[in-house]
Amino acid sequence: MKNIPVSKLVPGMITAADVYEDNQKLVLPKGVVLTDKTITRLEFYSILSIKVEDEMAEDSALDNEQPLSFSTRVRNSAVFQKFSKKYEEDIKLFSREINQMVRENKKIDVDVLLANTLSLLETENGDYLNVFDMLSNMRGYDDQTYAHSLNVALLSNVLAKWLRFSPEDQKMAAICGLFHDIGKLLIPEEILKKPSSLTKEEYQEIKTHTLKGFHILEDMGMNYTVCQTALMHHERHDGSGYPLGMKGDQIPAFSALIGIADVYDAMTSARIYRGPLCPFHALGVMEDEGLQKYSPKYIITFLENAVNTYLLYSVRLNTGAEGQIVYVNKNKLSRPTIKVGSNYIDLSSRPKLSIAQII
Ligand SMILES: [Fe+2]
Ligand SMILES: [Fe+2]
Repeated sequence: MKNIPVSKLVPGMITAADVYEDNQKLVLPKGVVLTDKTITRLEFYSILSIKVEDEMAEDSALDNEQPLSFSTRVRNSAVFQKFSKKYEEDIKLFSREINQMVRENKKIDVDVLLANTLSLLETENGDYLNVFDMLSNMRGYDDQTYAHSLNVALLSNVLAKWLRFSPEDQKMAAICGLFHDIGKLLIPEEILKKPSSLTKEEYQEIKTHTLKGFHILEDMGMNYTVCQTALMHHERHDGSGYPLGMKGDQIPAFSALIGIADVYDAMTSARIYRGPLCPFHALGVMEDEGLQKYSPKYIITFLENAVNTYLLYSVRLNTGAEGQIVYVNKNKLSRPTIKVGSNYIDLSSRPKLSIAQII
């Protein structure tokens, strides 16, 4: 039996003890063979580590896993291959530059970094690039900050476009995304990657990445909006955020926007082994629990457009039925209408049904 951080779990491992949330609610019993779905549930409950058996399950125990055909198609596409190659290069450049900035006080060339980041979203021949498909297939980085920051930059840039920000402000959104978590470089790795639950003091320490980030960026003479976003991206519309507990319109626009890209990336960021998490799972949680926490206009724009990118995609429902997303329901964005054969299934009025997978 060994204790494994949730971030290191892979399907086929077997739980060696009951897993509880805060020692109360049973999340997974002992003896369960882990699958992608059960690991995602552990993430949802913010469980940081569990006990697993030394032996893995036989392969046959995983036979019921669905093949990732859609994911394979994305990964094999020319657009994705170009994206992933450039993404890897950008991560290297970004981590080198940002470390030199924080540790050696070297001035950073924001324009070069920004141009590199935004060029990830450009395609030569106008090929359609769905940033959600690209990012969900890029999961596989075990770092806590660099890939996350790049993802948040890309998602924020796209959200700023959807919100019809000016071209300059769309760029600003990407820059704010790149630097929003820079303060984490000053938080000890033992805390950021701690395999067991954090103490109150350690959690407080993690929260200081906002103020630390603000100071690093201010010292570097960075644009004030970028500094402010590092400080305020964990503020929440209902006042439940930190460090200042600001509410509603007190939260600056870029901080509110980055907060949304940030949580989406955190929820969908996943494990080294796996293909993409079904985006409708994350979008559904955001719609059910995020409308108070985030600027209503921003979160609705995000959900509406994110869901729209999946219009006409083929999906498999949790019943096993396969169909096509044909209509986005304004009243329940994460639960569109699916055409299955000649039937139209409106998921917004069928709470027991859900989209299990894009195929
Ligand atoms: Fe953060
Ligand atoms: Fe973040």
